[in-house]
Amino acid sequence: MATDDLKAVLRRERVPPRASLLIESMRDIGYSLQTAVSDVIDNSITAGARNIELLADTTSDVPAIGLIDDGSGMSESELLEAMRPGTRSPLEDRPDHDLGRFGLGLKTASFSQCRRLTVVTRKAGITSCAAWDLDTVAETDEWYVEFPDSTAGTPWADRLQQDGTLVVWEKLDRLVDPRNEADRRNLVRQIDETASHLELVFHRFLAGEPGLKRVSIFLNGRRLKPFDPFHSRHLATTFGDEEVFRLGDGEIRIQPVTLPHHKKVTADEWNRYAGPEGYIKNQGFYLYREKRLIIHGTWFNLARQSELTKLSRVRIDMPNGMDAEWKIDVKKASAQPPAPVRDRLRRIIEVIGAGSRRAYTSRGRKLVSDNRLPVWTRSQDKNQISYGLNPDHPAFSHFSNTLGDEQKREFARLLDLIASTIPIDTFFADVSSHPESVSTRMLDEEAFAGLVTQTYLTLKSGDLSDDDVRLMMSSAEPFRSNWKAAEEAISVLARGNEG
Ligand SMILES: Nc1ncnc2c1ncn2[C@@H]1O[C@H](COP(=O)(O)OP(=O)(O)OP(=O)(O)O)[C@@H](O)[C@H]1O
Ligand SMILES: [Mg+2]
Repeated sequence: MATDDLKAVLRRERVPPRASLLIESMRDIGYSLQTAVSDVIDNSITAGARNIELLADTTSDVPAIGLIDDGSGMSESELLEAMRPGTRSPLEDRPDHDLGRFGLGLKTASFSQCRRLTVVTRKAGITSCAAWDLDTVAETDEWYVEFPDSTAGTPWADRLQQDGTLVVWEKLDRLVDPRNEADRRNLVRQIDETASHLELVFHRFLAGEPGLKRVSIFLNGRRLKPFDPFHSRHLATTFGDEEVFRLGDGEIRIQPVTLPHHKKVTADEWNRYAGPEGYIKNQGFYLYREKRLIIHGTWFNLARQSELTKLSRVRIDMPNGMDAEWKIDVKKASAQPPAPVRDRLRRIIEVIGAGSRRAYTSRGRKLVSDNRLPVWTRSQDKNQISYGLNPDHPAFSHFSNTLGDEQKREFARLLDLIASTIPIDTFFADVSSHPESVSTRMLDEEAFAGLVTQTYLTLKSGDLSDDDVRLMMSSAEPFRSNWKAAEEAISVLARGNEG
């Protein structure tokens, strides 16, 4: 060592981490079962696997989870290196399509869920097997990887046919206490949720796309189906202009998408694309790193998730060379856009917001202008929008005309009371969480017929021709929506009037 280097230093002490303690802390960097399984699958995809099987034994005395792939497999020395926590530098350039970065995922993801990680791998006909057992590390306080003398005791080891790798998690202390039935049921539920998570995170691999080979993932033999959060194949899905943004040597692609309005899809489709968290929570950016979804349903603090933009989802594609700039974490489950990209994203959000506002206001205006005799009126004064009952609607004016002066005033006050107490908050909450089940109540037949008669007579008394009355009523609710029934009733009234 050059003496210059030592000048500022009095002395140096080696302070290696205590194996038994650090390895326990490595368990708590915040993985869920879903993100942990995804991290192990990343390795299989990087190793060129075309088939990956997630295996879960939730019923036996010693529950276990396995992931088996038909990728390149590893030699024994490669396996030993793979078991090393921090086997590769995060600073190193990786080939395109490598989904890894930190040289940690296999270990951190596995330890977050289990106390025993076994890897069985086969390359060029040679099978190797190694295991981390946290109980051994705790006992010895040494970073010892074990090499079992046979794979006989490892679940699913016989499933490895040609080249490929099997990762097995046993001692699932964080997932299930085998003596507890409720725990086991909970594990089954978590595994099902993990399968749905994989259908989203790896949907582009599951579907295949130009430049990306198709990968099949199975859960206990069931083939997972890709879940495309953009509903890209639906004709009513609209795509904004794709933007390409250069940052350093890399390229970021940004594609805004608007999902179909609920009237354009079936109720099943509407619910499926809402996702368990709903449209409001699932709007926002969907960031893909080498086609693998990292984070979704966020505007990165650049905008609020609002009702207005709930159908907007924006796909961002980034390469694997920008991990530091995007602050990609070990779990590949969070990210932050770098400053120059933030400005661009902010502008994209502004365009999306303006578009949605236009769509909504023009729809609102249309509703009001189409309806020449509204029951409800909508008025806008600067930023204040309010709704009221229209006292000129024939149903109200006809009734009002039958009243004495004092009762007339009382009736007008009643209309005001109703209009001033519309339950806007609950209505808004219902529409945003399940719009498909919100509808106006139907009038019963008798009430509807009564309303047709009143309205017809009121309009006729104003010296309007029959054709004009029909025209006005056909554009007013509730007649417009039930025009066939209304027209029949009007014809009967018109004949009666003639006679
Ligand atoms: N299924 C597999 N098939 C072949 N090689 C594998 C497999 N899983 C892991 N490896 C090898 O083990 C290494 C370590 O994997 P690990 O997940 O710990 O880190 P990484 O993938 O390099 O980076 P990251 O921490 O970002 O996941 C990988 O770089 C790869 O060389
Ligand atoms: Mg990895």
